[in-house]
Amino acid sequence: MLLRLVAAFLFCGLATVASAQQEGVGWKTGREAAEIERKITALIGRMTLEEKVGQLHLSGRGEGFDINQVKAGRMGAVMNFVVPAEVRQVQEAVRQSRLKIPLIIGLDAVHGFSTYFPLPLGQASSWNPQLIEQAAYWTGREARAAGVNWTFAPMVDISRDPRWGRVLEGAGEDAYLASVIAAARTRGYQRGGVAASVKHFVGYGAAEGGRDYNSTWIPTSQLHDLFLPPFKAAFDTGAMTAMAAFNALNGMPATAHRGMLTDLLRGKWGFRGFVTSDFGSITELRLHGIAKDDAEAARKALLAGIDMDMMGDVYHKHLAGEVKAGRVPVKALDEAVRRVLRVKYHLGLFERQDVDVAAAPSLMQTEEARKVARQAAREGVILLRNDKQTLPIAPAVKSVAVIGAMAVPEDERVWTDPAGLGRRVVQPLPDALREQLPSDVTVTYEPAFTKACGTEFKDKDAALKAAAAADLVVTMLGEDCEFMGEGASRTNLSLPGVQQELLEALVATGKPVVLVLATARPLVLSWADKHVAAIVQTFHGGTEGRAAIAEVLAGKVNPAGRTPMSFPRSVGQIPVYYDQLPTGRPQKIRQRYESIYMDEANEALYPFGFGLSYSRFAYANPRVTNARVPFNGATEIAVDVTNQGDRDGQEVVQLYIRQPVAERSRPLRLLKGFEKIALKAGETRTVRFKLEGKALGGHDDDGRYQLDPGIVEVYLGGSSLASVRTQFELAKP
Ligand code: NOJ
Repeated sequence: MLLRLVAAFLFCGLATVASAQQEGVGWKTGREAAEIERKITALIGRMTLEEKVGQLHLSGRGEGFDINQVKAGRMGAVMNFVVPAEVRQVQEAVRQSRLKIPLIIGLDAVHGFSTYFPLPLGQASSWNPQLIEQAAYWTGREARAAGVNWTFAPMVDISRDPRWGRVLEGAGEDAYLASVIAAARTRGYQRGGVAASVKHFVGYGAAEGGRDYNSTWIPTSQLHDLFLPPFKAAFDTGAMTAMAAFNALNGMPATAHRGMLTDLLRGKWGFRGFVTSDFGSITELRLHGIAKDDAEAARKALLAGIDMDMMGDVYHKHLAGEVKAGRVPVKALDEAVRRVLRVKYHLGLFERQDVDVAAAPSLMQTEEARKVARQAAREGVILLRNDKQTLPIAPAVKSVAVIGAMAVPEDERVWTDPAGLGRRVVQPLPDALREQLPSDVTVTYEPAFTKACGTEFKDKDAALKAAAAADLVVTMLGEDCEFMGEGASRTNLSLPGVQQELLEALVATGKPVVLVLATARPLVLSWADKHVAAIVQTFHGGTEGRAAIAEVLAGKVNPAGRTPMSFPRSVGQIPVYYDQLPTGRPQKIRQRYESIYMDEANEALYPFGFGLSYSRFAYANPRVTNARVPFNGATEIAVDVTNQGDRDGQEVVQLYIRQPVAERSRPLRLLKGFEKIALKAGETRTVRFKLEGKALGGHDDDGRYQLDPGIVEVYLGGSSLASVRTQFELAKP
């Protein structure tokens, strides 16, 4: 469906993908896989204890990196090498080692390498898995061209707490959406030629209080229903590696969690790749209070199922001693080495050429990659509010004041620094608007702040003067710099610094204000929702972000992004998410003994799945083909969707279920399907979903999956408030 929508651009994208198909990596099967196991056995047979430990040692570019360890065969993996000439040096160094086992070369190529796509949360806002896969593909392809063969992505942690600074890396609050996206990103990266590392296994997104690295307490039923499914989806898609989480899960640090790493991941799920620790997380086992020293930390991590030590130097220093002392069986060490070598063989590293230093720059920010980046940026834009049809900018508007340093970026990088790899051109918003608006419209720009995140004013008066002189104010505000990402937890979710002060002053000019946001998470927008004319939400759109925003403001693109996380009205509501369980005291008339807040509404300000369009969509004729669906059966569900507006547009048709009576309480709404469609003005289309009976259960306190017979209500619509309803009966076979 979607392919039709963006046919022209995707067609050329796919053609290029086809020609690059040979670059894709993944698990080999059958005879090839068996042959690899034989090679690994032979190779392990030739390795010294130190060389084995070396394969589990991951060290990084920068201070302390010792290339002699590579030459001595004491390092199996490196990270943060992004300059092709430097990658080449380590590749050459490994050939001086006795066994010449190629290096795995890792990087946080998270939302791009040279071309930047929207932050993963912004990609998730597109609700367009094919497009997200394309973004991951180009990320992988560019990284691969620079010599990287392993990305520390996708991050698939479910997050329902916007206080946590890392919500930007995931796909939001819902298990179904996040699973579809986890699979898409895994496919994309590996098709692009780099092994995926699914992270952070597991529960990292549930850090108590939203404070990074904090403990998590997750009931078994919720672990299985909510947190594990995106991981499972990524492994089922063929993800070759995983990364353990920093946090303790129900009292056991994830880095030493044998139940998760070995019993579940390898035992039950049959994962054959390797698991790396997170950055220094093995030595942190001491601080978690489960190891008295690094030697014990190394032993506990290895025996739990951590194969590689990222930047901890702990395996490197202590594992050989632990093996010699008989505290770590050689068999356990060999098994970890086997998993690392297995990934290297399946990646084809033993045959792969060194990075082509001369060719690399020409493979960065290609036209195709930028087209995908533009489309991903467009589709990630969420229109949250549009009072009196302020947007798209009307023909009567003859002057626009663009306010806020965020509008003219210095850079869109978050993670990587592919030094010297070609252009990194990001169009400033005022320029992009000039390009998109009729030539008789004047566009002025005032930064107002000294830097993007608005911690201090540069010239507030000039900004207000520019606003007062214009017909329309477009202010681009949000979070940047130190306010986003790892270690950027916040208790206050308002605009950082003095941005709110500016926003209020702009509104006080009496001019209509369009608030364009580039944030790392849903902020509390209650004031803005009451006072500004329009709100356009992005999660940092990447290289093409501002150009895409201009297209939306000018009406060249009809916005179709949908929230992947609920937006709270106030921090005190957190966690706020859509798939709540019913209570015995639901909110009815808001009297005291109902489950309500005295001082705040229950509902999110903008619910999950929400986003406005310049069109209006209507739903009618919901229907099921089978009124009775056995556990092992399925039904089709159809609904007619009409674009009642006068513009062509895209709608994300969403399907939620509820089982009102079951053995355990079931959520009031649960997403089970979605499809993004393009509808011409006035067009009606029937959208069909297939629902399988077996997908409608939940886990119990022992982690057992349970299906219960009974009525299943189905809700169809354009957000989690979907109200068009049908139903069927789920029955024992
Ligand atoms: C720590 C982060 O938790 C992880 O996601 C990342 O991949 C590593 N650092 C490496 O940069």
